Amino acid sequence: MAENTARQLETELPDLEAYWMPFTGNRYFKQNPRMISRAQGMYCYTTDGKRLLDAVAGLWCCNAGHCHPRIVEAIKQQAETLDYSMAFQLGHPRVFELANRLVDMAPEGIDYAFFVNSGSEAVDTALKMALAYHRIRGDAARTRLIGREKGYHGVGFGGISVGGLSPNRKMFGAMLPGVDHLPHTHNISENAYSRGLPEWGAHLADELENIVALHDPSTIAAVIVEPIAGSAGVLLPPQGYLQRLRNICNKHGILLIFDEVICGFGRTGDNFGANRFGVTPDLMTIAKGLTSGTVPMGAVLAKKDIYDTFMTGPDTAIEFFHGYTYSGHPLAAAAGCATLDVYLGEGLIDRARGLEGKFEDALHSLKGEPNVIDVRNFGLIGAVELEPIEGQPTARAMQIFRDCYDAGVIIRTTGDTLAFSPPLIIEEAQIEQVVESVRTALQSN
Ligand SMILES: Cc1ncc(COP(=O)(O)O)c(C=O)c1O
Repeated sequence: MAENTARQLETELPDLEAYWMPFTGNRYFKQNPRMISRAQGMYCYTTDGKRLLDAVAGLWCCNAGHCHPRIVEAIKQQAETLDYSMAFQLGHPRVFELANRLVDMAPEGIDYAFFVNSGSEAVDTALKMALAYHRIRGDAARTRLIGREKGYHGVGFGGISVGGLSPNRKMFGAMLPGVDHLPHTHNISENAYSRGLPEWGAHLADELENIVALHDPSTIAAVIVEPIAGSAGVLLPPQGYLQRLRNICNKHGILLIFDEVICGFGRTGDNFGANRFGVTPDLMTIAKGLTSGTVPMGAVLAKKDIYDTFMTGPDTAIEFFHGYTYSGHPLAAAAGCATLDVYLGEGLIDRARGLEGKFEDALHSLKGEPNVIDVRNFGLIGAVELEPIEGQPTARAMQIFRDCYDAGVIIRTTGDTLAFSPPLIIEEAQIEQVVESVRTALQSN
């Protein structure tokens, strides 16, 4: 197999066969490769010399923009100083610093951070924490986990079990036992073209009462939802919905987990969705924007009561039999600290909040374009839903994706929904460019 230098790889394609790509049509890609070889700020550059405006922040993760010099420098310095240190029984200073800074950003009462390497690992970790928490408290019958239809919680067995996307589940057997699902909150006939949180649908949270009545509260460990569901096509919580879920969980002693993997770090115009919506969960999963996508890292943030519950037994005992070789990896921790420096030092979270009105107006200007059946948005998350081509679901959105790509803009599709989650550094003119590319694509299809 030919070896390629880094320089060559900026402009030349390597042999494409051996790499089995994730969540990708491998055969189609290998015949029609779109290869990004470098990136800077709002832009990605391809091996064939194209410049692309990134309206998705990588995959909802590069919130500070690509290759931010401060983050790059921190990673370089860390790599030279401490490449790795044993994650169990030994520590290194950066990861403690990062934990302190994250819990400072989280809503009051969230005081601990457990590090992992991805959103999927964060979800499986949070589910295990919930189960173990009840067991330690002598409530061992609380083993059921409640997710939600159309939920996306990554691809671990825990995540697909509580998740609610059938293509992600159907091939993989029986999954975790004892899981039930809330109804999703997406309803275009009631909420089409909502600006911000939709008015209709808070009552859908009350379905949790029915699930509780069916199984009995004494069997339920936790409920997990995304404050705003991203990967299933930007599904917004109706006004009051999250608060109602919180109240029902409180009433029945059920832990509430917010999967904030997409909603964190400015995406909703605040530190986390929990801050913005004024609802504090018991556990929060985070990843993606934590390092602005530079080094894989995730975490579970936990309330003090949960941490304290684990801190029993002899001082030398391991309290939670869980962790990963790369939990709190030095490079990720350094990237995380530098990323927080950028978000806070450069005011990017406030910037996102300041841009949301412009972003909303720009997206909603697509109402009335061919085949658009809904536009929805919150913070710097937006979606344009399209009428599917009969018998060819996803085909229409994929065509718009391709046309936008050819016009120099990266957008994301999920089903027949176009999704937008730009880096928080996006300029107003770039928002216009994204929307006008989509408009042109819609009008020519
Ligand atoms: C809400 C949510 N949870 C979990 C995940 C999984 O994260 P990862 O792909 O890092 O495992 C994602 C990824 O998009 C997500 O959106």
